[in-house]
Amino acid sequence: GDVAVLVPAAGAGVRLGPGAPKALRLLGGEPLLVHAVRRIAAAPSVHTIVVAAPAAEVDAVRELLAPVAPVVVVPGGAERQASVAAALAVVPPGPQIVLVHDAARALTPPELVESVAAAVRAGDDAVIPVLPVVDTVKEVGADEVVLGTVDRSALRAVQTPQGFRRAVLTAAHAAAGDPLTDDAGLVEKQGVPVRCVPGSEYALKVTRPFDLALAEHLLATGH
Ligand code: CTP
Ligand code: MG
Repeated sequence: GDVAVLVPAAGAGVRLGPGAPKALRLLGGEPLLVHAVRRIAAAPSVHTIVVAAPAAEVDAVRELLAPVAPVVVVPGGAERQASVAAALAVVPPGPQIVLVHDAARALTPPELVESVAAAVRAGDDAVIPVLPVVDTVKEVGADEVVLGTVDRSALRAVQTPQGFRRAVLTAAHAAAGDPLTDDAGLVEKQGVPVRCVPGSEYALKVTRPFDLALAEHLLATGH
């Protein structure tokens, strides 16, 4: 394998409601993070997995993942970007493709990991999986009055794993300013073109209780 996968898993999961940190919340009796790492490890290109865990849970996460796959576990930071940077800092020499993949996208198929990695291998410096936006989108003012309707055909909803040539991601993080919610955003600021490839509905991010209910259903039906 020529791919390292960084797994930011240090978030609290505020939008999911009260409970354990989101990556440790259960889906079909196992933590979201276990589902995510199992699917990452099933992708043949993957050489190294680094998880950024909640600081108080680093030892627990090591124990949890030991039977699942060989992983390096580091404490994450206060923002997602800091968690990714902490994981990136410990990637061993070797892998020249680095993917960043949210633990919260627990049911992401290994095939999506492979397709993003393959696009980087084929020559793109930065690759993101996307889906079309299905709802009509409107811009709205502070007074909740519509300002206009956005042209949906030019919009994409962005998922992870996002894939990068290693040097590109390292340079983007070294130059990073205010925290962003995805890594491609940092790379865009460096002027690097970002390629879109087809995403997967199964790569949904478990964010709110509805998403967890949907993921439970998908898992129960074989995903
Ligand atoms: N993440 C992280 N470190 C942070 C914040 C987020 O590693 N300081 C990770 C989360 O664990 C998650 C991914 O980034 O796997 C995407 O973030 P999000 O869905 O926003 O998760 P949370 O921040 O945990 O959720 P919320 O924003 O509802 O608190
Ligand atoms: Mg968050």
